[in-house]
Amino acid sequence: MRLKKLKLLDSISMNLNKLNKPLFCVALACITLLNIAFANIQPKYLRTEYKVNPFVEESKPRLSWELEGQGFNKSQTAFQIMVASSESLLKKGKADLWDSKKVSGNQTNQVEYAGKSLASGQRVYWKVKAWDEKDNEGKWSEIQYWELAKPQTQDWNAKWVGIDLNHLAKKGEYHLPPSPYLRKEAKLKKKVKSARLYISSLGLHNFYINGEKIGNDYFASGWTDYNKRVYYNVYDVTSKLKSGNNAFGAILSNGWYAGYLGYALLVGTKQVNQFYGKFPLLKAQIDVLYEDGSKEEIITDNTWKTSTGAVLESDFLEGEKHDSRLNPKGWDKVGYDDASWANIKEFDNKNGQLLEIYPSNPVRVVQELPAKSIKKIAEGKFIVDFGQNFAGNIHLKLKANKGDSLIFRYGEMLFPDGTLMIDNLRKARSTDTYVFEGDQVEEWTPSFTFHGFQFVEISGLKEEPKLDFLTGLALSSDLDQVGHFESDNAMLNQLYSNIIWTQRANYLDVPTDCPQRDERLGWTGDAQVYMRSAIFNADVAPFHKKWVQDLHDSQWPNGAYPVYSPMPVNKDGVAAIRATDSFSPGWSEAGIICTYEIFKAYNDQRIVKESLPYMNKFMTFLKARTKGHVLQEKAFEDVSPKGGFGDWLSVGEKTSPDLLATTYYFYCNKLMAEMCRAIGDLQQANDYEKESLAVKNGFKKHYMDQQGKLKTNAALYGNGEGYVEGQNGFAGHTQTAYANALYSGILDQDDQILAGKYLRELVESNGNKLTTGFLGFKPLLPALTASGSSDKAYQLLQSTEYPSLGYEVVNGATSIWERWDSYTKDQGFVHNAAMNSFSHYAFGSVNEWMFEHMLGIRAKENGYQEVYIQPEIGDYGINKASGSFRSMAGNIKSAWSKTGQELIQEIEIPVNVKAFCYIPVKESKAIFINGEPIDKNNMVLAVKKLEGKVLVELGSGKYTIKTNL
Ligand code: BGC
Repeated sequence: MRLKKLKLLDSISMNLNKLNKPLFCVALACITLLNIAFANIQPKYLRTEYKVNPFVEESKPRLSWELEGQGFNKSQTAFQIMVASSESLLKKGKADLWDSKKVSGNQTNQVEYAGKSLASGQRVYWKVKAWDEKDNEGKWSEIQYWELAKPQTQDWNAKWVGIDLNHLAKKGEYHLPPSPYLRKEAKLKKKVKSARLYISSLGLHNFYINGEKIGNDYFASGWTDYNKRVYYNVYDVTSKLKSGNNAFGAILSNGWYAGYLGYALLVGTKQVNQFYGKFPLLKAQIDVLYEDGSKEEIITDNTWKTSTGAVLESDFLEGEKHDSRLNPKGWDKVGYDDASWANIKEFDNKNGQLLEIYPSNPVRVVQELPAKSIKKIAEGKFIVDFGQNFAGNIHLKLKANKGDSLIFRYGEMLFPDGTLMIDNLRKARSTDTYVFEGDQVEEWTPSFTFHGFQFVEISGLKEEPKLDFLTGLALSSDLDQVGHFESDNAMLNQLYSNIIWTQRANYLDVPTDCPQRDERLGWTGDAQVYMRSAIFNADVAPFHKKWVQDLHDSQWPNGAYPVYSPMPVNKDGVAAIRATDSFSPGWSEAGIICTYEIFKAYNDQRIVKESLPYMNKFMTFLKARTKGHVLQEKAFEDVSPKGGFGDWLSVGEKTSPDLLATTYYFYCNKLMAEMCRAIGDLQQANDYEKESLAVKNGFKKHYMDQQGKLKTNAALYGNGEGYVEGQNGFAGHTQTAYANALYSGILDQDDQILAGKYLRELVESNGNKLTTGFLGFKPLLPALTASGSSDKAYQLLQSTEYPSLGYEVVNGATSIWERWDSYTKDQGFVHNAAMNSFSHYAFGSVNEWMFEHMLGIRAKENGYQEVYIQPEIGDYGINKASGSFRSMAGNIKSAWSKTGQELIQEIEIPVNVKAFCYIPVKESKAIFINGEPIDKNNMVLAVKKLEGKVLVELGSGKYTIKTNL
């Protein structure tokens, strides 16, 4: 833009002689006007409830935007939003629904719509403009919209329909009935102006109009506690309909609703599938608006017909079988003869079952992966390698004879002899079968299953096909990628890639532990340790908004959040997948921590308000278990395993699970106080703060000795039977205990210094290696940095020796492993018989440190409107790091490179954001910003000396900071 303006100036001055004076004056006036426009700030990336142009159910959806503007220190001092019932009205500046008028302030997100109430199906258009720091009025943004979906039950006339095909399941190890196919033709009498498909299923669905699949989503309508809540999606299907006859079709599958879940088969639970219902149901309604203003509805009801087709089996854990010869050709198009099809049955709504719009982003193909190699391992048997561990499916493209079939098995690793390693799938069959119709090139992708894999074994190939016969389709909840990280350390760059891939593989409708074996559950401990890391990678607000609701829906009657969510329960209210799955310290706190992380990162107060009753109930549950405000040894003796899961998969001395529970209890009180204060509930904020102080004191008294060392009374655990690795005894003086104590803030300042010293000593005395598991690793590097041992944090991060993440990388990992030693080159797979996933994000929680302390991007204010830029820079083996994070307030960039003593930092701060940048030198004299000495630089807002560093306050803009260390 700037360039264009200069060129314009040039050409005008060059042509000056040719111009007459009055015309020149007009030109100059134009330039002045242009200048004013350039000085202003421009709203862009307008979103409603975190999404661009969405369908929503909220009567007061929250609006947000980012700001763009040239130069430095730009901020918003006021905004105006206009909302109108049509685009043309808004273009004319007529806001018939809401005109906020000029509102003072720098708020750019979570602005509640406060206009006229809207009707279901109403689409409204909005725009926003901003005033800058000098009160210059900016230009209006582009126009965007949102559309109100169907928030009222009475808006739904469609019925639940389905058919029980369980009797058609083949006898065998698995019970896998075929998919019902549903169809209906309907005549549209007039010209269609607009049409919407509202669709939900208990189970999974593909929906077709006139032979075309609607949407590119997978696994709608997601996994919920279907007894309480079912989601629906909305699609604009205007262009899919025509006047006259139209054909509507659906294929259903069991999915999470009626399929196999978790390790029920493995642990020998009586019920292994059909946890919510026996067969899938569909509810769909197409609302048609004709050109003449009249309306028509096409709904699922008992006039629909049903039959079976090509999908013979489909299940998340067991895979899909597709026989193309059985495809009822033309069934989804007009004119198909369905006389032999049966009538479908209608089913009632369940009492208390809410039907709501899907809050998250749908699962979609987020990347296609070409096959890297193919190897023959036996006659007719080949292995294809995609070179990357991921979750998803394959796309097949091949010609074969009628009745030929291929069997696909999926694995994450190979045995040394080149055969597929599938021991770690346990009872997940994870096998697809495709039967060819023959005589033409056929293309196929499974619809109702996914696998976690890098390798596919294909049986049944008559000859070696060209490599492009198979493509990998990576599936994930389709969230915007918001992060970037790179450094001068190749191992670290691979590690970052592994983190991203593992998040993608496990952010699949719910945050799962792993995508491959017979588990794939929303384990709460894994999710809470990883969540901050996830935020730096993708815009997880809609995803976690959904999952926080799942957490609340699965809260136990006693107030505890469960160990995984959704949590299917049987009629006695007991966990249906495994009766002993209840709650655990470090897991259940996800109900507080995940809510807090959304509140903090996205400045979302509404989620706090809505979650408060559930969170309070949980805090009351915990409090009742305390003695002297402490969760003392054996406080959780009644759960299985006793004490909960503790520092799961740690490799050193076991930390007392109750000591950990107390630090978590403290941390939750602290977070609750902050959240309550933010929403104006001061009474509760004070109560939680008071309790957190009492816990702090109680913790010191109970779990700390005279020297400030953490301890536990191991004798109270007896022989430790029933506890995770309890036979080894428990300790308080461990890396995990100090890391959690420092991270949570439970220690007084003096004790923090001691804890930092002990933590450092423990790392050193262990040969500079970690001993931590899930709960200990997340806070380990942050705690080292907070206590002045960033050198140790860097050392652990760069280590390639067991146990470390680098060890995984040098052993060939393309994803994060469940265990520190899931595989070793010399010993192979030592844990396969138990649990050994190669795609488990929990240890990827190191991403939080990489962004917050290596790049140094940390939120000061909710929503990143104020931010710290404080990278840890020193002689730590890394001389270059660069990255960015597109926060709620805009894209923040932090890069640094060190050559000899010279340090160059490149920092980009978005409009309306203030950054507190720490330059790692004692004196400000040596600092140059954008080529000028810092004290001569008028872009800098303030310079202070702080803790041996120079703190520079910067507003928006691009800065190059040079200094000598
Ligand atoms: C899961 C974990 C989970 C754990 C509970 C495992 O089977 O895969 O990630 O947190 O159980 O300790």
